[in-house]
Amino acid sequence: MSTRLADVTAPPRPRAPAEPDFGRALEEVEAALGEFLDAQARDPADRCLPPLVDVLREFVRDGKRLRPLFCHCGWLAAGGDPAGAPVARVGAALELFHSFALIHDDVMDGSHLRRGRPSMHRRLAARYHGDDREAAARFGVNAAILLGDLCLAWADEMLLTAGVDDDDLRRAAPVLHAMRSEVMVGQYLDLGGEWTEDVLDRAWRALRLKTAGYTVERPLQIGAALAGGGPDLLRWCTAYGRPLGEAFQLRDDLLGVFGEPGTIGKSVLDDLREGKQTVLMALTWRRARPGQREVIRRLHGDPDLDADGAARLRAVISDTGAEDAVGELIEARAREALAALEAADLPATARRACAELVHQATRRTR
Ligand code: IPE
Ligand code: IPE
Ligand code: MG
Ligand code: MG
Repeated sequence: MSTRLADVTAPPRPRAPAEPDFGRALEEVEAALGEFLDAQARDPADRCLPPLVDVLREFVRDGKRLRPLFCHCGWLAAGGDPAGAPVARVGAALELFHSFALIHDDVMDGSHLRRGRPSMHRRLAARYHGDDREAAARFGVNAAILLGDLCLAWADEMLLTAGVDDDDLRRAAPVLHAMRSEVMVGQYLDLGGEWTEDVLDRAWRALRLKTAGYTVERPLQIGAALAGGGPDLLRWCTAYGRPLGEAFQLRDDLLGVFGEPGTIGKSVLDDLREGKQTVLMALTWRRARPGQREVIRRLHGDPDLDADGAARLRAVISDTGAEDAVGELIEARAREALAALEAADLPATARRACAELVHQATRRTR
């Protein structure tokens, strides 16, 4: 039996189109981001700002734009027509929020590469005037913290100037607030600790909070709420979005260790060198025999881990069956998201768009 999700109390709005058009949605998001950043550079608080906006423009290039796409799907799910609507500008604001999260994440994770190019703190270190390399690195980190903060502030500014109706914005506000707190709390949990019995539980909590919410469930709910969706639709966004968000990050954990460096645009050593206690690693630890645990204790978290050491760790992850187990967890969650989609009474366009995103989020190679 299908669940009826239309909000019968909402005023009539333009109807969803017959076919999803991700190409057009993405073009509009790029245009909105470009216009916003141009405007920030045109009227700067100080002349130091326009070159920083240029660095940011470079940084935001080449993302998969999943958050704007999920927001677009939420809009469609509520029966909204994206043509001429503020949904692309809202999606662009989510992308700026994502930039904040990534810039700070790369500082915290000590990651040197993002989207195939130097991470923000490394780019900014190169702007330091002087020969002192340590001072340059410190400058880069401090400047990246500030530029990340600026992205967070600009995400809000962009949202508030996106042309969204006040009532719609009020409906979406609790979701937005939850999304922001969740990311910070999740990133805190991700800082890790000792290999104790509760590591797997902490890894799951971190995965859900640091990524799953702000990548899938929350952008979907924001799009749905802004297009007039009521509580039933927001609950459906959770039923579909939570398992999908989890699958997305589980795939990220696998790609972070077994991915193709040239394709993922990040290092496949970072998680291992940093000793990240991902769900993948926590499952490995649980299943590992004493000798394998010894390898993990010795190599996982070694900042100088080389290719041989990484290969030994990968072998332990595979031999314990943890790599396959995570692959199965991803498949199970993709099925759960598709089942939620099947059970819902959604406009056909939204159904097609959401099905496509299950693929994009879980079968990805980057
Ligand atoms: C990377 O997100 C960070 C995580 C939350 C895992 P994406 O994989 O969506 O990154 P881009 O935007 O496509 O680079
Ligand atoms: C990123 O998580 C989460 C946020 C940006 C909030 P990860 O640290 O696992 O993602 P990558 O692998 O660096 O993209
Ligand atoms: Mg990271
Ligand atoms: Mg991280």
